[in-house]
Amino acid sequence: MPWWLILILVVIAFLVIVAIHDVTQRKHAILRNFPVIGHLRYLIEKIGPELRQYVVADNDEELPFSRDQRRFVYASAKQQNAYFGFGTDNQLDTPGYVLFRHAAFPHPSPPKELDSALPMRKVLGEWGNREHAFTPASAVYISAMSFGSLSGPAIEALNRGAALSDTLHNTGEGGVSAHHKHGGDLILQLGTGYFGARNVDGTFSIDKMMDSIDDAPVKAVEIKLSQGAKPGLGGVLPGRKVTPAIAEARGVEVGVTVTSPSGHKSFSNVPEMVLFIDNIGKTTGLPVGIKSAVGEKAFWHELADAMAATGKGPDFITVDGGEGGTGAAPLPFSDHVALPFQHGFAEVFGAFAERGLHERVVLLGAGKLGLPTEAMVAMAMGADGIGVAREAMLAIGCVQAQKCHDDHCPTGVATQNRWLTRGLDPTDKSVRFANYVASLRHEMIRLSNAMGAEHPSLVNPDLVEIRQSTSELVPVRELYGYDRSWQTS
Ligand SMILES: Cc1cc2nc3c(=O)[nH]c(=O)nc-3n(C[C@H](O)[C@H](O)[C@H](O)COP(=O)(O)O)c2cc1C
Ligand code: SF4
Repeated sequence: MPWWLILILVVIAFLVIVAIHDVTQRKHAILRNFPVIGHLRYLIEKIGPELRQYVVADNDEELPFSRDQRRFVYASAKQQNAYFGFGTDNQLDTPGYVLFRHAAFPHPSPPKELDSALPMRKVLGEWGNREHAFTPASAVYISAMSFGSLSGPAIEALNRGAALSDTLHNTGEGGVSAHHKHGGDLILQLGTGYFGARNVDGTFSIDKMMDSIDDAPVKAVEIKLSQGAKPGLGGVLPGRKVTPAIAEARGVEVGVTVTSPSGHKSFSNVPEMVLFIDNIGKTTGLPVGIKSAVGEKAFWHELADAMAATGKGPDFITVDGGEGGTGAAPLPFSDHVALPFQHGFAEVFGAFAERGLHERVVLLGAGKLGLPTEAMVAMAMGADGIGVAREAMLAIGCVQAQKCHDDHCPTGVATQNRWLTRGLDPTDKSVRFANYVASLRHEMIRLSNAMGAEHPSLVNPDLVEIRQSTSELVPVRELYGYDRSWQTS
């Protein structure tokens, strides 16, 4: 046999062994889904920083999440070293840059065994005096992402991760599925399609809702008015994506296209919405909240007035920033509709604080907040907890390929393609998610301790400054017109 033929056979044998190894290992979804060629991704990832540093972009340029931001999620999910040498490579004089004023005498750090324990400081459900009011064990929770936009194994990984990290898991508007029942406590979300809680004509059914949560650990209900990436828009789930499992979770027919309208059929003004919330709260005994991006200002003042006058209304309010994510949305909506998180949240917080409601109503936020600095700013501005959606996806393997909308997600996170989803091992990824959440909470605690506060909710908004120009730093209290009397003590 000629030497070159032997060489070719050796190479082929080597590639076959690599392919078998790749398909059978469970750690890397990309290698399971793309045996042999998947290694290129790791090679590029390895030499990418050097290549990009000189040729393409720097560490803070890529969007929606920069390489530094993704590096925080990946490194913490894998429990890798999070220390970097030689000082910052950021431009500290860039407008929008966040700076924290540390205390001369920091708050002592918690003991090691408690260094990632970050319960919320308010009781969810206290406002409406709900039978099952509770204090969430984690101020970080998984923001709404439905089974349908995410794969079954991805939902399972998040739910298992939620159980490991004592984190609440929001179902998203697609209802409760079998993938949601792996130990993690749930927030049931009701969107305009009322999936999992609807009659055949698409109207809301409280009986169907009660059936769907009968054997599921649902701890709260969130009524979605809108989300930051596509406010004022409904949604369509094409029939080809309505698999038997998705149809069962949503209470719709297999293979038939389902639409969710842009608005709710059960209410069309503030008093009707308050009644709807009251009915669900009374029937379930659970805390009930609303989720919305911030558009017209008058709505928030009308809601706060109605709540102050009646003592009824949502126990919690989730403000989603216009920079929020989605499975799919038209660009004009993602790019231009709804206020970014900080502006939107400040308006809502102000409307409630002016009426003294901010101490009893829980205020949550989402919109690229799953990173220590952004989370810290949100909590100093009065958020009681922060939701993480895309950061949670990154923790379980998403590589920001941005193919979530076309069913070709290479990591199996946002697809229903069975070959691609088989690569995602829910048990392994659940640990990564739990590691990421623990690191995020740990960093938030360390930042607040450095600013002299025990808990992020107690950080003084005067100590968080945002650069406006090279010569001007403005504290968030002043930037967003917060009154000193609103400060939590
Ligand atoms: C794949 C995907 C699906 C989502 N599905 C929902 C949903 O069903 N309901 C909802 O209110 N928000 C949904 N969102 C928005 C998130 O819950 C969250 O509010 C938003 O992405 C901001 O958080 P992030 O910046 O951490 O991603 C979805 C986001 C993504 C990325
Ligand atoms: S398609 Fe890309 S961005 Fe979307 S989940 Fe998959 S890896 Fe992440």
